[in-house]
Amino acid sequence: MTPVRFVAQRTTRSASATRALGARLGRLLQPGDVVALEGDLGAGKTQLVRGTCDGAEVPPSEVSSPSFAIVATYRGRIPVHHADLYRIADEDELYGTGFGDLVGGEGALLVEWADRIPGALPAERLTIRLAHDPERPSVRRVEIEGVGDRHAALARALSGIR
Ligand SMILES: Nc1ncnc2c1ncn2[C@@H]1O[C@H](COP(=O)(O)OP(=O)(O)OP(=O)(O)O)[C@@H](O)[C@H]1O
Ligand SMILES: [Mg+2]
Repeated sequence: MTPVRFVAQRTTRSASATRALGARLGRLLQPGDVVALEGDLGAGKTQLVRGTCDGAEVPPSEVSSPSFAIVATYRGRIPVHHADLYRIADEDELYGTGFGDLVGGEGALLVEWADRIPGALPAERLTIRLAHDPERPSVRRVEIEGVGDRHAALARALSGIR
């Protein structure tokens, strides 16, 4: 059976608007949620993560310290795992980092550049795709897609549709 799917399009007009969308996500997150963040360099994935951490009550000082490796875990209202797969060569290298244990675990998982390693994440997840607007440097097109009951509901709540 095909899983439930929900998709919505949004636009943000500033980095703070993208962080505000993230904050909304952070307030909705539950343990086991999986969020893929896709988009080119500078699209706003980390801005979205910062907002999400804020909404999940992670102290700002915890987010993206200079020692940030492949995965960092922050202590918020729930544990928030933040991974960035930009520098990961392949699936073998990824699983060597212990990433596999984080999927569907007791925290929420946010993954920048998730699309670089196909199969890294389950099909039932929330995917947020950010794209630049070629004419307007502070505008981003944001696609919010949820697959499976939980993540479709999350996508719906995040996009503000009842
Ligand atoms: N609407 C917007 N949403 C998000 N960021 C924006 C927006 N407008 C401008 N910006 C700027 O774009 C940059 C986004 O950087 P960010 O680090 O979030 O991108 P990224 O997708 O994580 O890139 P990378 O792939 O290098 O990790 C920031 O400098 C931010 O201030
Ligand atoms: Mg980033």
